[in-house]
Amino acid sequence: MRIKPLISLMLGFIAATAVAATTPLVPKPASVTEISGEFRFSSPTTYSVPAYAGDSVAHVFNLLKADLEKGAGTTFTPATGKAEINLTLNPDLGPEAYLLSINPQGITAAASRPAGFFYALQTLRQLLPFTTQTAPATLPCLEIADAPRFGWRGFMLDEGRHIFGKDEVKKVLDMMAAYKMNRFHWHLTEDQGWRIEIKKYPKLTEVGAQRGSKSLGWRKMEPDTVAYGGFYTQDDIREIVAYAADRFIEVVPEIDIPGHTQAAVAAYPELLACDPENPHEVWLMQGVSPDVMNVANPAAVQMAKDIIDELVPLFPFPYLHLGGDECPTDKWEANAQCVAQLDSIGSTNFRDLQLNFYKQLNDHMATKPESDRRKLIFWNEVLHGNTDMLPSDITIMAWVGADKAALDAAGRGMTTILSPQIPYYINRKQSPLATEPVSQGAGTETLEAVYNYVPLKNVPANLHDKYLGVQANFWSEYVITPEFLEYLMMPRLAAVAEAAWTPQNLRDYSDFRTRIRAQEPMLRARDWNFAPHEFMNE
Ligand code: ACM
Repeated sequence: MRIKPLISLMLGFIAATAVAATTPLVPKPASVTEISGEFRFSSPTTYSVPAYAGDSVAHVFNLLKADLEKGAGTTFTPATGKAEINLTLNPDLGPEAYLLSINPQGITAAASRPAGFFYALQTLRQLLPFTTQTAPATLPCLEIADAPRFGWRGFMLDEGRHIFGKDEVKKVLDMMAAYKMNRFHWHLTEDQGWRIEIKKYPKLTEVGAQRGSKSLGWRKMEPDTVAYGGFYTQDDIREIVAYAADRFIEVVPEIDIPGHTQAAVAAYPELLACDPENPHEVWLMQGVSPDVMNVANPAAVQMAKDIIDELVPLFPFPYLHLGGDECPTDKWEANAQCVAQLDSIGSTNFRDLQLNFYKQLNDHMATKPESDRRKLIFWNEVLHGNTDMLPSDITIMAWVGADKAALDAAGRGMTTILSPQIPYYINRKQSPLATEPVSQGAGTETLEAVYNYVPLKNVPANLHDKYLGVQANFWSEYVITPEFLEYLMMPRLAAVAEAAWTPQNLRDYSDFRTRIRAQEPMLRARDWNFAPHEFMNE
């Protein structure tokens, strides 16, 4: 970084605390300096965009232009001379960093890459009034120097239990993009539904994507017998991946194997079941099904390899999530093939059958050309098996006992992502109010509790580079409608986004609350549902 931006960055840190509450940006930028004066948009307002490989900076501007025009209450037109909105290249900035300067003469956004411009314009969009207006808007002058804390700023959506469809997934991606999140972890398979077309195994969706109950049974709550189903074709997947890429979001697919696979077992019992002689159906209940894949059957291993081969060209991001959570071993313990395989690998820990299965999949990945190889991500239960069977470049997504598990993974040389069940499972009730719709939990995962989680607490500095970032997770056992999905997500998604982006020393809940409340008009303008109690005055 050159001296000038460095000085303005340092000045910004000093000024930022004083002005935080008046600049309602979420996530809070690394540095905001308010300066005197204001910029008034013209009618029309001129802009200029730098040349960049593939015209990709122009693509970013064009993607957001209509929305920015709406927010500014005017139209934008390319400049012939000096422009009022200037996008300029600054090669000294990091790939996601940006500078945004608003002064009486105009607005300048500087970045080294398209992603930085995208984030600069997302910041600008949050500064715009988003209320009905009759004249072009004015903005207070300020200087922002900003860059993310973490490279992994994730959100996971479970569409196995309930599927929300392409339009809603795009809306979720828009919400993520507004808060500068960049990893969409798509949980596409579950005991209760297989949601992605695999051409070599059509019954995965013909059978595995359908079930005989819309709501899922739980304890005394019976399934409702309403036919329910749905899945994404490979064309749908390509459309979503492209939509996400336009918003600088990488899609990380999760095929959860060998546990949470009852829907797949129901589709292909002859290949996957530990007890193919018994009936198998897509599960109608919540919980953890014991009906897991028979990992000792070579046909099951081959099927997993074939599925990976279809996933790789659909999802270009170099990570693939293979699940690994909550995999009961009871059926393996009762299966002669599994018992024999455990003996043959010289172990007495049935969890090692799961690790041995992953080893074969990882070996398969290693046979691919470099550009087709994907690094594997697993839930942290995998640490209970012999991880020496896998390379140390796997990533552990830590959810149960997350801080401890992540530290364990980092200590073993693996990278890790913090997605602590409490409080980052934002499908759990977000208030103890009697009006809160039914979901998991007692309402203790409030906006404040989510906000106040501190990533990397007590982690030795020499392990920090193993922590890729943080992620909110959303499980959909109780959540059937897009309205309820959005209600539970918002505004807690924004709280996680701030943990992912903003330096810890600038984070403060009451300051965040003031800023997020100021965004209510934007949430309404974008037609995003949210928990209204978080926006009411006490
Ligand atoms: C999980 O919550 N079972 C990853």
